[in-house]
Amino acid sequence: MQNGSDTQIAKSQGDPIIRVRGLTKRYGAHTVLENLDLDVEEGEILGVVGASGGGKSVLLRCIIGLENIQAGRVEIFGRDMTAMSDKARFEIDTRWGVLFQDGALFGGLTVLQNIQVPMREHLKLPQPIADELAHLKLSMVGLAPEAAGKYPSELSGGMRKRAGLARALALDPEIVFLDEPTSGLDPIGAAAFDRLIRRLQRTLGLTVYMVTHDLDSIFAVCDRVAVLDGGRIVRTGTPDELRRSPDHPWIESYFCGERARAAMAAT
Ligand SMILES: Nc1ncnc2c1ncn2[C@@H]1O[C@H](COP(=O)(O)OP(=O)(O)OP(=O)(O)O)[C@@H](O)[C@H]1O
Ligand SMILES: [Mg+2]
Repeated sequence: MQNGSDTQIAKSQGDPIIRVRGLTKRYGAHTVLENLDLDVEEGEILGVVGASGGGKSVLLRCIIGLENIQAGRVEIFGRDMTAMSDKARFEIDTRWGVLFQDGALFGGLTVLQNIQVPMREHLKLPQPIADELAHLKLSMVGLAPEAAGKYPSELSGGMRKRAGLARALALDPEIVFLDEPTSGLDPIGAAAFDRLIRRLQRTLGLTVYMVTHDLDSIFAVCDRVAVLDGGRIVRTGTPDELRRSPDHPWIESYFCGERARAAMAAT
């Protein structure tokens, strides 16, 4: 059985960096995801959209192995996440970072300490180096050095999002998962956050998996969009493709409504 980190076959060039096949997730009798397929290509910014309560956050948690699934297979970097030893899981965990929907910063830790949580878990760094690295991540996300010593409750919503992003970047990941990164931000703050994501994706060569409701974000930064409806990915395409041929009722109402026209006009 292949469950050691050395024995698993790595992904070949050109293969998707994430491949989900036949994923089914239920809570008791409630089926949230059913027989879902999805590919995420290396280096892209993929937006995942769908109705509220449709299972976008659940899907994200299933992909990164935080949920047991009833059926299907999730491969990341060409490796089967569902058949992986705990040790291999712990190692592969360093190759992605996550910004959860609620930010999920530890309230009792400063921003700097929050950024250092993944470093503590995975790296044995002398404190001065960990401090220097955490300061570097802070500046990458556009936070002033003064933010380092603040507690999450002392930050604005936008600053908390940036601090969460800095923590997601702590271990130089290859993939970043973002769950509603611009929710709760005003349009100017959200646009600045979009530009930050685009810039980081380009300069660091990241793959970005972004759950979002935000049409402005979709048109501003997403290379491709996957639409979740009825527990499955019903369409994937560029934002423009989905807008031009909205051959699905949810896509039609979402991409062709007034808000979509306003978002298009703004780009
Ligand atoms: N731990 C859980 N136990 C039971 N049901 C859950 C659990 N987590 C999520 N669900 C259910 O799964 C469904 C999908 O939830 P999810 O949070 O993924 O929606 P979402 O698409 O992310 O919504 P939103 O856009 O509002 O964030 C919901 O019906 C929710 O109640
Ligand atoms: Mg959600």
